[in-house]
Amino acid sequence: MSRMNAFYAQSGGVTSVINASACAVIETARKHRNKIANVYAGRNGIIGALTEDLIDTSKETAATIAGLRHTPGGAFGSARYKLKSIEENRAEYERLIEVFHAHNIGYFFYNGGNDSMDTAHKVSLISKQLGFPVTCLGIPKTVDNDLPVTDNCPGFGSVAKYVAVSTREAALDVLSMAKTSTKVFVLEVMGRHAGWIAAAGGLAGSAPEDAPHIILFPEVPFDEAAFLARVKKCVEAYEYCVVVVSEGARYPDGRFLAEAGTRDAFGHAQLGGVAPVVANMVREKFGYKYHYAVADYLQRSARHIASATDVRQAYAVGKAAVQMALKGNSAVMPVIKRLSDKPYRWRIEMAPLARVANKEKMLPKRYITRDGFGITAACRRYLEPLIRGEDYPPYINGLPKYVSLKNVPVAKRLETDFVV
Ligand code: F6P
Repeated sequence: MSRMNAFYAQSGGVTSVINASACAVIETARKHRNKIANVYAGRNGIIGALTEDLIDTSKETAATIAGLRHTPGGAFGSARYKLKSIEENRAEYERLIEVFHAHNIGYFFYNGGNDSMDTAHKVSLISKQLGFPVTCLGIPKTVDNDLPVTDNCPGFGSVAKYVAVSTREAALDVLSMAKTSTKVFVLEVMGRHAGWIAAAGGLAGSAPEDAPHIILFPEVPFDEAAFLARVKKCVEAYEYCVVVVSEGARYPDGRFLAEAGTRDAFGHAQLGGVAPVVANMVREKFGYKYHYAVADYLQRSARHIASATDVRQAYAVGKAAVQMALKGNSAVMPVIKRLSDKPYRWRIEMAPLARVANKEKMLPKRYITRDGFGITAACRRYLEPLIRGEDYPPYINGLPKYVSLKNVPVAKRLETDFVV
């Protein structure tokens, strides 16, 4: 194949290490200039491809690209934008291929979660049908850690570390004042349907008296009476009670404890605000003073306390995606294969996108204690290596020194505009 360009886009909620994958894609492509002429990034993800709003990454210096490795957020802009089915909106797919054709793009790297893997898969199919086959690779990313096949998802390890560290630190604060002041602290964490992030809070302690005393998982239907009884027991035994609650916690009938009422482009309910709901339940029943925190974007942007393992893996999947593409593989995603827990050893393997697309990996039953409020030893074994190691960004004047890109646009070649 003659030299072609590559298109790279970020999709869905960003993470503190998604730019490490971007860094790997660009650095690896730059090492293969004989095959990949240039990497164009989509401004605001796939929308950039549809609207021919491409970013020329060759305008960035090697030092700036290297700086992406320690910079959180999505450097080119990410989007929650799901392509419809081919039958419903063929025009969108045709437009993508038209843009790829116009810019001589033969490689498509899509960095996202379950929905994005579905898009990458569809683009690979349709590009063949339209006679301009594009090599399509998924690059895993999601703080929710709910992609199947891979041992874990880049982005998760760092959120897990942030949540475990914050739970441990806040618990010390609460405990020191519990006799006369706050007795209950509730930390709300992300994870729409799967309780992986909430489970990570469990790493903060290991003995029954250690915080968190209660974890509320989306996988365990919320039992208000059992929850309140447990809070009381904790306060009586230890003077305080720390609760980690997943934003996806649900009632037995499937309703979320806190649904904001809005939906995103993928049709997912926007969540948030479960912490005050459960904290209020506690106060109404027992009158305990409480504080709560909604970790929200702080958890998925906290690059200052990223897990070194996570950063390494985010880089490794980006690099492997380019290498796999150059070997002629398409409609696949690099996955992390765990070889052992202690020491944690892993390698990158390849999985077909069809096995990953649109599937969610929930926290297995064997990772949740029988009472439904904690994590098991098996869960700890799984989680512990993922938060290992620190990878501090450089600091200047007391603040992390993150890079910002020039994001120079590629000149448009098409006459037509496309409205998304
Ligand atoms: O992409 C995962 C996630 O971080 C979820 O855990 C969370 O519910 C959601 O994104 C928030 O999405 P948004 O930033 O689009 O509101």
